[in-house]
Amino acid sequence: MTPFDNFFFIGLPYITIVLFFGGIIYRGLSGAMSGHRGKWNLSARGDYLWATRSTGFFGRASIGPASLCLHWGVLILFVAHIVGFIGGAYAWVGGVNFFRWAGLGGGILLLYGLTWALARRIVIPQVKAMSRAEDYIILVFLILISGLGLYQSAIKLSFGAVAIQAGPWVGSILKLQPNAEAIAGAPLVNKLHIIFALLFFAYFPFTKLVHVLSYPFGYINRPFISMRKYIGLKR
Ligand code: HEM
Repeated sequence: MTPFDNFFFIGLPYITIVLFFGGIIYRGLSGAMSGHRGKWNLSARGDYLWATRSTGFFGRASIGPASLCLHWGVLILFVAHIVGFIGGAYAWVGGVNFFRWAGLGGGILLLYGLTWALARRIVIPQVKAMSRAEDYIILVFLILISGLGLYQSAIKLSFGAVAIQAGPWVGSILKLQPNAEAIAGAPLVNKLHIIFALLFFAYFPFTKLVHVLSYPFGYINRPFISMRKYIGLKR
């Protein structure tokens, strides 16, 4: 155990939890990212940047592999991690094995989709023109996190061994009895995997990724969204 372990596996997780939930609530209910900054607006759509800025109009042939693979990959990985952590925390071998195999499939799918998504932003001029720093930062974060996860499990062949350490550690954080020792012995690659994931979740509320929380709720009966600038309405 080093002071670094204490910071990264006790301090950082709680900073991330506060920023993740606090950031989503603050941004959802205030105009935090728009010209309405500082004015409360209880629409749960506080700023008009709460959208994905779809790129699907351009390069239609490659939006399929990019979007489908990365979304299914994320979904599979989310379920696989939860089941794996429960398996690790309660010494349930089936859960850890599920994590290993479903995680492997989901991870490959995600990395494939992310590579397409990044290539689209670099190669297709219209998509490049509409891309912001945020779009690249998210992709690089996800490529790094899934690359490190896959390196540990598929190249170092840890066979889910790290999940057995991560499960009790995640449990200790959720029970507010943090125990960094549970994860201190994990390989550096997996520690980096977790640290980058925590940084990513802390950044999440301030990006387009908040669409996860509103999609697809209310899509069918929502009011039309005006894409004009306010100034345009005055003319
Ligand atoms: C704080 C959040 C996270 C924690 C604690 C965590 C922890 C872990 C652990 C313990 C493993 C298993 C390594 C092994 O035993 O071989 C793993 C694998 C993996 N993780 Fe994460 N992870 C987190 C977030 C993420 C995120 C956000 C992504 C997606 C970008 C991701 C993608 C992967 C992938 C692709 C694997 C390899 C799965 C496999 O081959 O079985 N993880 N993670």
